[in-house]
Amino acid sequence: MEKVLVTGGAGYIGSHTVLSLLRSGFEVVVIDDLSNSSRESLVRVQTLAQKNVEFVHASLLDETKLKATFSAHNFSAVIHFAGLKAVGESMQKPLSYYQNNLISTLNLCQCMTEFKVNKLVFSSSATVYGEHATPPYTEELPLSRASSPYGQTKVMIEQMLQDIVKAGSLQVASLRYFNPIGADQSGLIGEDPLGIPNNLMPFVAQVAVGKRDKLSIFGGDYPTEDGTCERDYIHVSDLANGHVKALQWLSLQQQPLYEAFNLGTGSPFSVLAIVKSFIRHTGVDIPFEIAARRSGDLAAFWADASKATNILNWQCEYTLADMMKDTWHWQSKNPQGYQS
Ligand SMILES: NC(=O)c1ccc[n+]([C@@H]2O[C@H](COP(=O)([O-])OP(=O)(O)OC[C@H]3O[C@@H](n4cnc5c(N)ncnc54)[C@H](O)[C@@H]3O)[C@@H](O)[C@H]2O)c1
Repeated sequence: MEKVLVTGGAGYIGSHTVLSLLRSGFEVVVIDDLSNSSRESLVRVQTLAQKNVEFVHASLLDETKLKATFSAHNFSAVIHFAGLKAVGESMQKPLSYYQNNLISTLNLCQCMTEFKVNKLVFSSSATVYGEHATPPYTEELPLSRASSPYGQTKVMIEQMLQDIVKAGSLQVASLRYFNPIGADQSGLIGEDPLGIPNNLMPFVAQVAVGKRDKLSIFGGDYPTEDGTCERDYIHVSDLANGHVKALQWLSLQQQPLYEAFNLGTGSPFSVLAIVKSFIRHTGVDIPFEIAARRSGDLAAFWADASKATNILNWQCEYTLADMMKDTWHWQSKNPQGYQS
């Protein structure tokens, strides 16, 4: 059985991907420093899959522990989620973001080279297309300057990985996520951000359970149909499945390669449409106000995900209604997240 190292696997997308991997027959070792997650997510993943996950509590910045993890296992591939991801925070603390995200990835690549692990799936983001590309985004668009230090770490890591591929035997699938939302249908695992949520859906969900008074929608005067920003929301379980497909595709490849894939549905929805959809599908009211625009937010973008469909044989299975219902199922079952 193939054994995969999943960095940041206790987090939101990581935990859903670990579940998909276990259900697809992979063995999984997770390394996570729990700086933005809880050990409980993996306990629940084990319950759902009825399989074990080996957990290493360590930062990728700790070279000694990372090396020990590689030397204790025979990994066939790595999925690299670990990183800091809050756009706003990255504006305040650029040094922490460059330090954590870049050095972690360098340490990981160093170990992969040393232990001859060649296959890597990297968590990238639509933010690498920068501020001026015209949607729908295709993978042929050049990497561009991102609007935040967080986004810049994704651009820089993609560039770094391309250089490493050219010089050696690495095979990389960079998955450029659009806007993952929702939760596993069981309601047992979901998004549980520490502190004030940065993204729309966890905020909506926390207003819905009464943890927060109201939602602020940043900007009502964008050049979109209803004036609010439009994004390409994708169910986290579809995203998780994309990682399994990418691994399966990588396992068939022989030569060094670097391929980027957009993972989105290809359909944009406005913030207001999402709020209305949540209310319609859950019956729970969401008080909201239109606030000032947030710096760095783009009016609208969405994916052309046909490359992932054609090459990885991947497709989204969940609808917007599923995304709303599953978010609410998770949050209502776990009003305080994993502390509930
Ligand atoms: N959620 C999104 O909207 C989104 C969009 C595009 C890309 N991404 C990327 O996907 C990845 C996963 O995102 P997520 O939403 O699951 O975030 P998350 O914060 O829930 O998961 C990241 C995990 O990495 C861990 N981590 C952070 N730094 C670490 C380090 N140095 N060593 C070990 N573990 C570390 C955290 O504890 C956390 O469990 C991130 O790289 C993120 O940038 C996320």
